[in-house]
Amino acid sequence: MKGIILAGGSATRLYPLSKAISKQIMPVYDKPMIYYPLSTLMLAGIREVLIISTPRDLPMFEELLGDGSRIGMKLEYKVQLVPNGLAQAFVLGKDFLNGEPGCLILGDNMFYGQHFGHMLKDAVASAQAGGACIFGYEVADPRAYGVVEFDGDGKVLSLEEKPEHPKSNYAVPGLYFYDKTVCEKAAGLQPSARGEYEITDLNKLYLNEGTLKVKLFSRGFAWLDTGNCDSLLEAGNFIATIQNRQGFYVSCIEEIAYRNGWITADHLAALGKEMKTAYGRYLERVAEKGF
Ligand code: DAU
Repeated sequence: MKGIILAGGSATRLYPLSKAISKQIMPVYDKPMIYYPLSTLMLAGIREVLIISTPRDLPMFEELLGDGSRIGMKLEYKVQLVPNGLAQAFVLGKDFLNGEPGCLILGDNMFYGQHFGHMLKDAVASAQAGGACIFGYEVADPRAYGVVEFDGDGKVLSLEEKPEHPKSNYAVPGLYFYDKTVCEKAAGLQPSARGEYEITDLNKLYLNEGTLKVKLFSRGFAWLDTGNCDSLLEAGNFIATIQNRQGFYVSCIEEIAYRNGWITADHLAALGKEMKTAYGRYLERVAEKGF
């Protein structure tokens, strides 16, 4: 399976912070925001990733991550000229996917919790077998999200994008796994009333086909928002708290590459040496300690 990170948009809710630079390159504590979604794809075992962003911001991601070979990955880049909807990722990403199943993650979505790697690998297997696999996460106010409604047996009844009167408290996070029919389905979508190619409309096609699976995150799991200044600060504090308490870094892409067997301990140590920071020293420590 291949992955796509959608890291465009204008992030006007973060102005003036995001007036001159991409939101997804901003720091969440000690690393750029895009490290978090990239690490999610890596935990799913996905090694080939397309990063989509605006003409202004794409070169910055290329400078940050290059062709991915430093972390044993293959990264490609594609411009989205107009931010006209999340489902466009599968129109822009058609050549990249080249008929393979694909996972889309939004560049501002952060996840943290136990057994996440297993959940991701299950989702990959599920989409590879056919259909789509998305997630549900209970929130107090789901009106700003895609919302999924279930019946008493856990069967999905409906999906709605940003409903004024949500039928449940289950928001759909920005992490989606699809089978190889996804590009064909995305190409047939029409813009919504707000003029966007909606990811919820794409998911509805799978729902109507009877091939949509929704897995629920448990209440101990963290799905963090970075949409405004408060949530950005809270996300940074959350990461700092976990890292400083346990000594393990969250979403450290070099460490995950090493633990996935994509780079050697020597290479990890060399990456660490290049950075004269606590982050760099952490990489050297992990390389020295091994698994
Ligand atoms: O975060 C989860 C939610 O993400 C889902 O529950 C919703 O169903 C889904 O529509 C989406 O809602 P948002 O309101 O968060 O979408 P937004 O338009 O803010 O876009 C999410 C990110 O994707 C944002 O960082 C900008 C980027 N983006 C967005 C669009 C529309 C792009 O790169 N290109 C785009 O065309």
